[in-house]
Amino acid sequence: MSTVRIAIVGLGRLGRRHAANLQQTHGAQLVAACSPVAEERDWAATALPGVALYADYAEVLANADVDAVFLVTPTSLHAEQIIAALRAGKHVFCEKPLALNVEDCLAVEEEAARHPQLKVMIGFVRRFDASYRDAADKLAAGSVGRPYLLRSQTCDRNDESGFFVRFSASSGGIFMDCSIHDIDLARWLLGNPKPKRVWATGTNALHPALAEHQDVDNGVAMCEFEGGQLACFYASRTQAHGHETLTEIFASEGRLTVGANPRANRVEISDAHGVRNECVQDFYQRFADAFVTEAQVFVDTIRDNRPSPVTLADAREATRIGLAITQAFRSGEAVTL
Ligand code: NAI
Repeated sequence: MSTVRIAIVGLGRLGRRHAANLQQTHGAQLVAACSPVAEERDWAATALPGVALYADYAEVLANADVDAVFLVTPTSLHAEQIIAALRAGKHVFCEKPLALNVEDCLAVEEEAARHPQLKVMIGFVRRFDASYRDAADKLAAGSVGRPYLLRSQTCDRNDESGFFVRFSASSGGIFMDCSIHDIDLARWLLGNPKPKRVWATGTNALHPALAEHQDVDNGVAMCEFEGGQLACFYASRTQAHGHETLTEIFASEGRLTVGANPRANRVEISDAHGVRNECVQDFYQRFADAFVTEAQVFVDTIRDNRPSPVTLADAREATRIGLAITQAFRSGEAVTL
């Protein structure tokens, strides 16, 4: 296939960013955009000239000129939308997490197995970030020895608008929404160990309304893997300084750290207050380059007929661990997987 004709589905916080990237992706053409929200389609009419606009996802799937869908919709819709796309003969990129329960993940895998010619890729964007890739390469080369503990956090800047409270209704909670990235990193960087037992707790430091969704604005979790490797996860919605994604991998001959200072750029300010730098403000600023690479990899995967670099089994395992952590948090008990 020389040009992959893509429909973006979901034009919210992240969908608009993906739409802009897809317009620059080599070998891709953004041909359609879908949102049930009129003002989002109005935005697209101006920002995405020449792109066909749809309110109804079923109509996108009926369009024979669409080769692939790029799903950036609420997590609670992912599984059913992927299955519908596969049945309509479309390749699928879908944002993380794959689904909010293991049964839905398995249903997607079963449907994908019926369409081996179609690609399905789940958006674990950190796998396309240059620094995380470098850390993965160093671990694979054994340059710091045998990794035994990963400590990783996904911390958002505080948003007083209440966005995270509304978002919680469909996100699956802070562990499924934020820690899922760290869970995927732990599996990738520790060599796909099998999880054994998890424990979690959390607190609402600034957003008590999250309790309506059995959610918190700060959560911590631990995971033991078979073979003795460990992971510690921290997720937050309340940072004052900006977005801070930080990962440390402790290994037998050293430690790798990614993102220890969430610097916005290489400028350092020295003045009467000391020496400091400005910080990235949100996940997109931190991972902008990785999102561009991710879109290119998806398109290349289709054009070159390569296996998807992030498998549905990877995504299912991340969901399984994230769910066990959520269950541990809600029950107050350790959960054995
Ligand atoms: P959002 O709420 O801002 O946007 C959701 C979009 O989906 C809206 O445009 C909404 O109109 C649209 N939508 C709702 N129902 C629909 C339907 N039936 N058919 C088509 N469109 C529909 O949410 P946001 O933050 O953009 O998140 C979307 C997804 O992206 C989530 O799954 C989230 O987990 C993921 N995400 C991933 C990130 C990453 O780092 N990889 C970061 C932020 C979000």
